[in-house]
Amino acid sequence: MDRAPGLGQALRVNETERPRVLVVSDDGDDRQQLVHELVGHGHVLDVVTESEMALQRIERDGPEVVVVGCGLGVAESLELIERGHRTAGRHCAFIAVLEPARSAAVADLLRAGADQVLLWPDHRDALAVAVRRALEKPRLAREVDQARDGVLNALSVGKVERIVGAHPAMQRLLSKVMQAAQSRATVLIHGETGTGKELIAAAVHEHSKRSRGPFVRLNCAALADTVLESELFGHERGSFTGATARRKGRFEQADGGTLLLDEVSEINRQVQVKLLRFLQEREFERVGGNETLHVDVRIVAATNRDLKQLVEDGRFREDLYYRLNVVRLEVPPLRARPSDVTLLADHFLRQYAEENEKTVHGFDQRARNALLAHPWPGNVRELQNAIEQAVVLCEGDTIEAEDLPIAPAPAELDSLKMMIPGITLAELERYAILKTLEACGGSPTRAAAVLGISRRTIQYRLQQWGLSRPSKLRGERDAPSSPLPLPETGLESEPH
Ligand SMILES: Nc1ncnc2c1ncn2[C@@H]1O[C@H](COP(=O)(O)OP(=O)(O)OP(=O)(O)O)[C@@H](O)[C@H]1O
Ligand SMILES: [Mg+2]
Repeated sequence: MDRAPGLGQALRVNETERPRVLVVSDDGDDRQQLVHELVGHGHVLDVVTESEMALQRIERDGPEVVVVGCGLGVAESLELIERGHRTAGRHCAFIAVLEPARSAAVADLLRAGADQVLLWPDHRDALAVAVRRALEKPRLAREVDQARDGVLNALSVGKVERIVGAHPAMQRLLSKVMQAAQSRATVLIHGETGTGKELIAAAVHEHSKRSRGPFVRLNCAALADTVLESELFGHERGSFTGATARRKGRFEQADGGTLLLDEVSEINRQVQVKLLRFLQEREFERVGGNETLHVDVRIVAATNRDLKQLVEDGRFREDLYYRLNVVRLEVPPLRARPSDVTLLADHFLRQYAEENEKTVHGFDQRARNALLAHPWPGNVRELQNAIEQAVVLCEGDTIEAEDLPIAPAPAELDSLKMMIPGITLAELERYAILKTLEACGGSPTRAAAVLGISRRTIQYRLQQWGLSRPSKLRGERDAPSSPLPLPETGLESEPH
């Protein structure tokens, strides 16, 4: 078992960068001779007289090399090396020193975890060299760990952490992402353009057991029908004009990992059949090939289309729809999570200020109002582009409404602000519920998700206000001439 990067390493960084060598022997002469060979080679030497103490040091200080003197005897040396190895793993090398009369124990010592065995005093001159060589092992182990952590940070953790979103609807989505990631189930991500479906797909991969495997993405809309099949499943040499060599498809590339089929609604009938077979049987053939291939791939599909509707229109296979729609993740549009607009705007502001080496501290109130009032049909991508443009164009250290490529906020937002203090909480609640219902097309379920309250609360309130029929509300929203009834606060409905 590998030792978690811990106390020992922290100590070393703080105290000294020199490697630590621990010498263990309960025999005074033995200790003296070992130390004599090791001083003056630039190590930090630590000497202990018994195994238990040595094990404590291994745990606490994380020495890179432990030299086990012959004074301990074979049985105790074996036990110390075995337990020490279990604690420190690749981060510590063990050198056992033996009397020639006990050379029969060499194999046992190596099996227990000793990296080198020296006979004493015959190999006395070689001890310093042996220690120097042994230091390579923990050094490599550290480098591998650092490289692995670096890769993980760059590819995985980093991406997931970049999902900004504190709104309850987003928090619920993220916890569903974590649940879905643990399973093997196929995932269907649905959401408007620019809502972050690709980030969500990456998060599913990164939190799954296959996170060390590949994450392969294919945009199904970007390829012609004929190319799509070979791109997904690969092809054999000569299977079509231009197929000069056998080629692995995305399925094979994603073996052991996750394959994101982006814009999955765009795949043609023929590929739909082949994809369905993969989802049912976990097997496929390359284009022009007879060999049946099996790969271990989890499918995540993303779409901004209404797949159910496409099924009804006869444009998407129903059986495939059900095979894809095992776990469904719905990414809410940005206008349904207004608190995230501000959060994301601040996030992108920091990012682009740094990238453009500009000092921009924040947004003035009018700019913030404009951000909140804009409906963001292009969702997070549109917001991201708007902030980038504003950061590049702004002349001062604060972004003003005029720097943003969106319309300024209607006076209404300012007037809402002006009404506080003055407006009652009940009025505010009524305003929030009705405006959210309006933004959600009259759906109490979606409005409840946005507001972070139960659907029943909304229905109860609607009843109280004599507005209990959501279908009526939806109809009213569709007819601009009869806007939703708003609370008697003097506030007007936003223009559609
Ligand atoms: N919650 C978020 N936090 C941070 N960045 C986000 C978030 N959501 C989206 N983004 C950023 O917005 C941009 C669009 O996201 P993404 O490409 O994942 O959207 P999409 O839903 O796949 O869009 P499309 O349907 O057009 O393919 C990306 O640059 C992404 O990094
Ligand atoms: Mg996308």
